[in-house]
Amino acid sequence: MASHPVAETVRQRRTVYSFRPESLPEGLIEDLLEAACHVPNHKHSQPWRFVVVRGKAVGRLADLRVELQRERAAKDGRPVGDLAAFRAEVAQAAAVVYVVQAVAEDEKRRQEDYASCMIAVYVLQLVAWERQVGARWNTGQLTRGEAVRSFLDLGAREEIACCLLLGYPEQVPPDWSRKPLQDVTRYIE
Ligand SMILES: Cc1cc2nc3c(=O)[nH]c(=O)nc-3n(C[C@H](O)[C@H](O)[C@H](O)COP(=O)(O)O)c2cc1C
Repeated sequence: MASHPVAETVRQRRTVYSFRPESLPEGLIEDLLEAACHVPNHKHSQPWRFVVVRGKAVGRLADLRVELQRERAAKDGRPVGDLAAFRAEVAQAAAVVYVVQAVAEDEKRRQEDYASCMIAVYVLQLVAWERQVGARWNTGQLTRGEAVRSFLDLGAREEIACCLLLGYPEQVPPDWSRKPLQDVTRYIE
């Protein structure tokens, strides 16, 4: 019987929302990033840049998340919510990997580069999953605004594509149901 390990990993991977308080082995993040650099990439522009937040810096990023929540609540005139929970969401991660796009002048190039960055994020997630490491893709507060840019020390022509919170899963959410294939597919023969 043929074995299809990639297809299996694709099916089994889940977004992980809670992590065990365990650090990642030396070199693991580098292995993930190295794999991510092998994605399809038109013109071989290699637009991805990675900023790895780990060690004590994860706590500083968690503090920043709390500040951002406070600011947003004040601006919108809404209750600030459970700040300890906002902090814990970030602080529980063993590392946070930012995928940053080097932004090209040309619009078409920017679109294609963004696509490559997104594929890199997915590969990173899949290879992590193969090593029993879970990831949560984030495009929320942690990826927006000047304070985050400054924390990451980004250059003027670098944009945050997203960040991935990484760690050993405490819990793996159940799978969710997809539309039947016939509802999303047309054949032309
Ligand atoms: C472009 C993109 C942005 C996402 N942004 C967030 C986010 O900001 N916060 C979050 O919790 N999950 C985010 N996710 C994760 C999705 O919510 C998650 O993939 C979805 O619920 C399906 O679950 P699964 O990954 O276990 O299949 C994002 C996923 C993608 C592809």
